[in-house]
Amino acid sequence: MDFKIAVLPGDGIGPEVTTEGVKVLEAVGRAFGHNFTLEHGDVGGISIDKHGVALLPEVRDLTQAVDGVLFGAVGGPKWDDPDATVRPEDAILQLRSHMGVFANIRPVKVNSWLADSSSLKPEVLEGVDMVVVRELTGGLYYAEPKARHETPQGWTAVDTMRYSEAEIERILRVGFELARSRQGRLASVDKANVLECSRLWRQVATQLGEEYSDVELSHVLVDSCAMQLIQRPAQFDVIVSENTFGDILTDEASMLAASMGVLPSASLSEVPVTGKRTLGLYEPIHGTAPDIAGQGIANPIGSILSVAMMARYSLGLTKEAASVERAVDQVLANGSRTADIAVAGTKTVSTTEMGDLITAAISG
Ligand code: IPM
Ligand code: MN
Repeated sequence: MDFKIAVLPGDGIGPEVTTEGVKVLEAVGRAFGHNFTLEHGDVGGISIDKHGVALLPEVRDLTQAVDGVLFGAVGGPKWDDPDATVRPEDAILQLRSHMGVFANIRPVKVNSWLADSSSLKPEVLEGVDMVVVRELTGGLYYAEPKARHETPQGWTAVDTMRYSEAEIERILRVGFELARSRQGRLASVDKANVLECSRLWRQVATQLGEEYSDVELSHVLVDSCAMQLIQRPAQFDVIVSENTFGDILTDEASMLAASMGVLPSASLSEVPVTGKRTLGLYEPIHGTAPDIAGQGIANPIGSILSVAMMARYSLGLTKEAASVERAVDQVLANGSRTADIAVAGTKTVSTTEMGDLITAAISG
């Protein structure tokens, strides 16, 4: 089949890891007889430098004319001036909103080959296999007012957390449906002891829970969730949360999988159904890692597994997705490690070498 893919590498290690993701996508094309037409676009800091804005309208519109969007990462110290009027992060925030991808799916699975690479004890990690569903187009990230004012007493800043019942219900539904297709347990995360948004969230979750009576619903306060993720992570099946909580909890949860570098994500505008095609935005959960950018040592597995998620949800290519996941597993089983997942003192491979090894392991 023929597919059109938007490739938006961005800044820092974004281009390095995305190159490897694309390499693997092309290997899938050769192995399974598909043709991928790639449309590249500038996003983030590089777009600010070249065009004065983080996301050109034509790049934004490109995302509506393709079958899937592969995103790298945006941002970096060069564009971090707090007084700047344009910010690299605007690119990803505008894209998520424009594409309407309110459901960010972040699977966190401990690969048995990497249990020793985590900073946590292997016995704590045993059996960890969860999916975090993060609301992606609302809450503190987007709601107005969002501003800074100078007052006689000095500066004041405001961000707004606002959620409508409809926004809460549609993201909770993604959580319930995913839980139903997995182990049937859903942890709904909130801060209902303090926040009004969370009290509404909990109310909607409880109501929906009656419709999904086959799913075991629990309400977990976000601070307690952060603790339990480290204390007893294997208890979680599906976690669902609002935008900011989900951002923080997934960085934390990534440490269970040894490194942020290995985790992919899919951002969708509806409940994902394996084999059914839905437009999505795919990106590793890590950032631009300015400290290691340009050194060729970043881990490309987060981008490569994002390609697998794209194959599964946006391209309807289930076998192909599994072949990518198998290839990653095989290369890790053989002992190849980028620096972030290597045990101290052992030999490491570069970003490109890791991409080449996984590419070579793809078979139809
Ligand atoms: C992520 C990132 C983004 C976010 C940043 C780059 C805006 O941290 O995808 O988790 O906060 O959503
Ligand atoms: Mn984040």
